[in-house]
Amino acid sequence: MAHRVGIIGGDGIGPEVVGVALKVVRAAGVELDQVDYDLGGRRYLATGEVLPDSVLDELRGLDAILLGAVGTPEVPPGVLERGLLLKMRFALDLYVNLRPFKAGPGRHNDGVDFLVVRENTEGTYAGEGGFLRQGTPHEIATQGSVNTRMGVERCVRFAFELARSRERKHLTLVHKTNVLTFAGDLWQRTFDDVARSFDDVGTAYNHVDAACIYFVHDPGRYDVIVTDNLFGDILTDLGGAIGGGIGRAASANLNPARTGPSLFEPVHGSAPDIAGTGQADPRAAVISAAMMCDFLGEGDAVARIQKALDTTDDVKGTTTQIGDAIAAAC
Ligand code: NAI
Ligand code: MG
Repeated sequence: MAHRVGIIGGDGIGPEVVGVALKVVRAAGVELDQVDYDLGGRRYLATGEVLPDSVLDELRGLDAILLGAVGTPEVPPGVLERGLLLKMRFALDLYVNLRPFKAGPGRHNDGVDFLVVRENTEGTYAGEGGFLRQGTPHEIATQGSVNTRMGVERCVRFAFELARSRERKHLTLVHKTNVLTFAGDLWQRTFDDVARSFDDVGTAYNHVDAACIYFVHDPGRYDVIVTDNLFGDILTDLGGAIGGGIGRAASANLNPARTGPSLFEPVHGSAPDIAGTGQADPRAAVISAAMMCDFLGEGDAVARIQKALDTTDDVKGTTTQIGDAIAAAC
């Protein structure tokens, strides 16, 4: 049966790479009932609308959402991040942000093959804080970090289950427990509690600053990592840099409880500097779409896409040429 998938191409290279991803998914034999949504910087500039409630309600009824990237230089920072991307994460309860990092065959950093599970609905991104005496010399700005036992536990549990499904069965908690002693303590205690139900999964803990060093010098030590929202955001950009570059960094925003659709998107932005030139690498969007197929239970198609990505790893050319090569290899 066709999966009902919402498509948010967005701005800049977003629609270009999403177009390729859809072509590859169909070439791999997955039937999609595609519903296009005009959201992002262009729509905001034209209408002042970011994510109308009626659209959000429509999204709730979909099987999945595939997003390219949103943002144009004219839109002030924060408008689309908070009003569209974060709003969908919170409203659709996409509490796991999953990012795989794997060096392709023959590329450097052969030891890179791990996943980061980033908590996606709490921490410093929950929006707690405010100004006092704004604009005066006595101005104060606070930005709190929200960590609930429920929110941390469901994320940590997902990470343990993911680690259990992999060959190495290893999970590392990354935090800053030595300085962030309240949030860090809650994370460590929750991690230790959940670990008791996963005897077969090996565990480790790294401070986030040490993890940055290991990412560069010893990435082979990692299998699955679980961390909070802010550390995960920063660490996954570093992961992208060591794992094949921004053109290959993919992500899934998951609602593992499946009370609504999950959202899949490349990590990169709308790249206005290369939009329309055909220079965008579509692989990050293709890998994100493969993660979507995986979540929708299309395992055979995922295997075909993965094989096609491996055999076309060194193909260079325009966005369309790379996409056609991957689609033809499916
Ligand atoms: P960016 O990821 O769009 O671009 C950073 C650099 O990487 C640029 O030089 C770009 O040409 C290059 N690049 C990005 N994707 C590429 C690809 N697939 N192939 C080849 N090169 C690629 O980040 P930047 O410049 O900070 O942001 C541009 C706009 O995108 C902003 O409006 C920003 O707010 C938005 N943005 C949106 C995101 C989203 O929708 N999830 C995420 C990050 C940024
Ligand atoms: Mg980021």
